[in-house]
Amino acid sequence: MKKVIIRKTQEIENWRRNVNRDINFIPTMGNLHNGHIKLISTAKNDNSNANLVSIFINPLQFDNKLDLENYPKTIDNDINISFSNGADAIFIPSNEDIYPPNNKNIKFLKAPIELSSALCGLNRIGHFDGVCTVVYRLLNLIKPKNLYLGEKDWQQLLILKNLVLRKKLNVAIKSIPTQRDFDGIPLSSRNVHLSKNERKLISFFSSELLEAKKNFQQEKKINLNEIIKKLSAKKISIEYLEHLHPHTLQKARPEDNISLLAGAIKCGETRLIDHVFLMQRRPIIAIDGPAGSGKSTVTKLIAKKLKLLYLDTGAMYRALSWLMIKESIDYKKEKKLQNILKDISIIFKSNINSDQDVYINNFCVTEEIRSQKISSIVSKISSIKEVRKFLVEEQRKIGESGGLVAEGRDIGTTVFPHAELKIFLTASIDERAKRRKSDKNSKDSKEIDLHTLKELIKKRDFEDSNRKISPLIKANDAIEIITDGFSIDEVVDKIIDLYNDKIPKETEIK
Ligand code: PAF
Repeated sequence: MKKVIIRKTQEIENWRRNVNRDINFIPTMGNLHNGHIKLISTAKNDNSNANLVSIFINPLQFDNKLDLENYPKTIDNDINISFSNGADAIFIPSNEDIYPPNNKNIKFLKAPIELSSALCGLNRIGHFDGVCTVVYRLLNLIKPKNLYLGEKDWQQLLILKNLVLRKKLNVAIKSIPTQRDFDGIPLSSRNVHLSKNERKLISFFSSELLEAKKNFQQEKKINLNEIIKKLSAKKISIEYLEHLHPHTLQKARPEDNISLLAGAIKCGETRLIDHVFLMQRRPIIAIDGPAGSGKSTVTKLIAKKLKLLYLDTGAMYRALSWLMIKESIDYKKEKKLQNILKDISIIFKSNINSDQDVYINNFCVTEEIRSQKISSIVSKISSIKEVRKFLVEEQRKIGESGGLVAEGRDIGTTVFPHAELKIFLTASIDERAKRRKSDKNSKDSKEIDLHTLKELIKKRDFEDSNRKISPLIKANDAIEIITDGFSIDEVVDKIIDLYNDKIPKETEIK
């Protein structure tokens, strides 16, 4: 594809027609550094879309004239950097192109007050209104499929996500973690203004935040005053230092598993921001839904793609059912059952096919637990109070430090009610029966006709939804996905998009 520089808004439409592909859009204000390079190369590696980088110093987002005048301009270098890292086109409009005088079609937007009145919004009046206005204008001109933004400007990212929702724009926002320089300070176009001494101070500030993050992992608490004291001792002028909920930007609460520690400091005339995310444990995804909704296939793929542990709680109930049959345990005898459960161990182990095997008391039962015989009793076994109590405790133990995706029927309501993302996966009975019939792993289902399968699924749904303990119900904060007509990959991608939207990329463990 021929690489082009576009300078007029009218030329965009032509270019779009010529490339005839979806567009990844990377908006910048120039003076590109490794953070921008990471954005452009991430877009290039994500898919085969055409990549467009814009370079436009947006006057509306500067509350200080001097800051605007001094903003570094390095256009020739920026063009080289963009093209050599994967840009197919660079859009370099003039002020008149973006804000044509007397054009009534240009919408001057306001950022939502709840998000823009916190942190940087307190001192940079109108800044986020300017960001919303220019990005909305650019999105309407470019009509990209994906918009790439850095998490370094976390508040901006939240405000732009909100803009996309509010304006019902058909664009997915993809974010990349803050990129840091050799001395730990976040890469920023304004860093060129820093003196050696100012750099040292900022580096101290960033290392304090990173230290707080490390301490939080152990102590699960944060002492803002202590950090402020240390910064003040170095004569660092703090504009704000706040511990907040990462999405609402309200004060962080003890139950927030992920929270945001964000600060802004001033060094001479330069103002710098930095943040870290504090995590009590790694994130958890809860996927609940009825039998045959595609939970297992989807959950396994998500675990692989997001490098999370896969917790198949259904397999635990099935393994227990298998043992009860094998050892002729009379599960109706409560007292005896409690004693038996004490000595049961269920564990998952990866096998050579990078799948998971389930073991109960050292028996590998992966295959056997999928038989119709087990299917016909698992619902009964899983409605026994003692069984549920025992397995819920086991599941919580596995999930103590997070980093997993769990599938079952009561994950979002009972096992992990504080999971970061809850999905309720379902499909019509017809669709589920068809899937079961064509499932290669389900030996017995092959021998059962479609009508009988439907009846069995209906019966299982009824039992699961009506049992007294932990019935199958959608958690209030779960997102329902009806999978009829969607491919497995489409469902997986949808869930991963929802996850990425909630969980900052910066929290990922490499
Ligand atoms: O983050 C930036 O560089 C700018 O705020 C943006 C998104 C390019 C809008 O001018």
